Amino acid sequence: MAVVVVTNRIPESGMAKLRAEHEVRAWEHEECISREEALRLVAGADAVLTLLTERVDGEFLDAAGPQLKVVANVAVGYNNIDVAACEARGVIATNTPRVLTETTADTAFGLMLMVTRRFGEGERIIRSQTPWQWGMFYLLGMGLQGKTIGIVGMGQIGIAMARRAKAFGMSIVYADDYDPPAAAVEGLDARKVSLDELFATADVVSLHCPYLPSTHHLVDEARLRSMKRTAYLVNSARGPIVDEEALVAALRAGEIAGAGLDVFEKEPAVHPGLLELENVVLLPHLGSATTETRAAMADLAADNALAVLRGDAPLTPVTKL
Ligand code: GLV
Repeated sequence: MAVVVVTNRIPESGMAKLRAEHEVRAWEHEECISREEALRLVAGADAVLTLLTERVDGEFLDAAGPQLKVVANVAVGYNNIDVAACEARGVIATNTPRVLTETTADTAFGLMLMVTRRFGEGERIIRSQTPWQWGMFYLLGMGLQGKTIGIVGMGQIGIAMARRAKAFGMSIVYADDYDPPAAAVEGLDARKVSLDELFATADVVSLHCPYLPSTHHLVDEARLRSMKRTAYLVNSARGPIVDEEALVAALRAGEIAGAGLDVFEKEPAVHPGLLELENVVLLPHLGSATTETRAAMADLAADNALAVLRGDAPLTPVTKL
């Protein structure tokens, strides 16, 4: 029996899989574990399940000890994991792709609808009991039909967003260093363009790329200025891909029409400037937040950890070991 540490609460189905084979030590509290508690809890672990709120670096791996074999992140994004530090110690790291693709694309699409149709503003009017009346010119937004969506990062979630956009009658352009599999984009009439062309021509720019050193502040002052004044930005990927300070300035100056954000640069903090603006929709990182998807993520993370502990190959590794 190995020792599996789970550093935050995860759905019971994943816990049951782990408990069936190993001794499990878990953080059982509602609030996130502190760094100190996490470093204490992981000591002696053979496998650790982490959330994106956990920084898995050399210090964390050393606190676990040399017997550690696998870190299974319960998230598709793994910018919280120092992959090189894992590889240097022979620790396999895994993530949870695919199982959250549709749910996250739903969130991005929801943000796009909310911001372009001003649903957030409308909701705030009703809730604040502000007097209102149906009007021909009241709270008009932008229709999506016939507009162009620019997808930055045509991976699984980007493609799922494109499918939704296609169903809504949008044209699709995308930018990516890689080419998506032909079968996955068949029928989408999606055109690959440069980032410059994408930002200059899209009516909605939606971010679906991973957060890497090369994508840090990919959306900066210059990129925002290159967008159409009528265009919207949607970010359901990672906060620091956008320079939040520059975004606030661009929104204030009317350089873009609005933004829908599920992620923030210094999460859970939100730039105070964003809170003052009506033309932004702000969600607390709900991308994969459905009961079904969170269970599937926990199951996949558990399966990854169990496979490595059995001596089998992990299902969805991010390390090259
Ligand atoms: C959520 O943001 C994830 O990366 O799974």
